[in-house]
Amino acid sequence: MESGYRVAVVGATGQVGTLMLELLRERSFPAREIVPIASERSVGRELDGGLIVQGLSEESIQGFDLALFSAGGSTSGEWAPRFADAGAVVIDNSSRWRMQDDVPLVVSEVNPDALAGHRGIIANPNCSTMQMVVALKPLHDEAKIERLVVSTYQAVSGTGKRAVDELLDQSHALLHDREIASPTEYTHQIAFNVLPHAGGFLDGEDHTDEERKLMNETRKILGDPSIRISATCVRVPVLTGHSEAVNVQTREAISPERARELLRGAPGVTVLDEPAAAIYPLAIDAAGKDDVFVGRIRRDPGNERALDLWIVADNLRKGAATNAVQLAELLHERGLITPRPVRSAV
Ligand SMILES: NC(=O)c1ccc[n+]([C@@H]2O[C@H](COP(=O)([O-])OP(=O)(O)OC[C@H]3O[C@@H](n4cnc5c(N)ncnc54)[C@H](OP(=O)(O)O)[C@@H]3O)[C@@H](O)[C@H]2O)c1
Repeated sequence: MESGYRVAVVGATGQVGTLMLELLRERSFPAREIVPIASERSVGRELDGGLIVQGLSEESIQGFDLALFSAGGSTSGEWAPRFADAGAVVIDNSSRWRMQDDVPLVVSEVNPDALAGHRGIIANPNCSTMQMVVALKPLHDEAKIERLVVSTYQAVSGTGKRAVDELLDQSHALLHDREIASPTEYTHQIAFNVLPHAGGFLDGEDHTDEERKLMNETRKILGDPSIRISATCVRVPVLTGHSEAVNVQTREAISPERARELLRGAPGVTVLDEPAAAIYPLAIDAAGKDDVFVGRIRRDPGNERALDLWIVADNLRKGAATNAVQLAELLHERGLITPRPVRSAV
């Protein structure tokens, strides 16, 4: 009898999917087979490690124990329930299922117990929400967060591979005194610029959907609908690593020293906070790492119950792929997925 899970990675050729494949291998997830799935464009392509990309069809989705999705909201909307109906537990990176009441929205260090209530689909939060709640959880446990004022500085890899190419192409053109092509991924030039427009403005909305996700998902994960949140999500010409300036007002005052102590003891957090020595989290240092980095911890001079923090993480790793694989590990450790018995040919 072979042991381990049969795992589908949907969106396996993308930035997040590629990392999920790597992490499943690096972290020795107990898989007996991993099947990479992408769009029709990629079917038949051989990936590093020799796996061959499959397409999505009623036949190809049968027999999986687990499916990790990172192929956009419409693919998740159509195919995640089909995988679940066919018996797999789905961990989805898109925003499609996150706010649905019967879908747990889970960060491994923050609300792992929510996994137990899953009904086949589990949602991975938005990247900017993910890193923020990892850092906020110990402060919320200590003194209950009342209000957050957040400004994000989000990397282009958060938009997808094509946005990374757009930044690189524009930068190259401008450095060589050439005209840039019309932007396709963003509404304005992103190279050497800062866009107060991460995500999209839906009809009649004065906040972007990215800003709404940050507000709604934070409340759902921390399990506290009363937290008031003001957010401005900004796209910056950084390849990987989202940074966030967060003002945190709690019910009881927390000193910066106590906040540092709490954060130093928190899972998945590294404190880098010696500003006089120019030591604080930087996107280029966080890229390629799994932790959430926190620094510039200081009291808000205008509010004795508020602290200011600077929070940085790799949006593709902890913001997406790492958390998805950590959730898969938790499902395994807690017996929340069961590998189907498969007999090997004799
Ligand atoms: N980037 C981030 O920081 C981040 C963070 C959190 C969550 N997410 C979410 O993760 C998802 C993927 O992001 P990404 O940055 O990895 O995007 P990406 O690099 O553009 O990759 C997209 C992947 O989806 C596949 N795909 C597209 N249409 C498909 C279809 N109709 N059927 C099957 N597969 C299809 C693509 O396959 P082909 O190669 O064949 O086109 C590719 O594998 C998105 O939902 C995004 O919102 C991203």
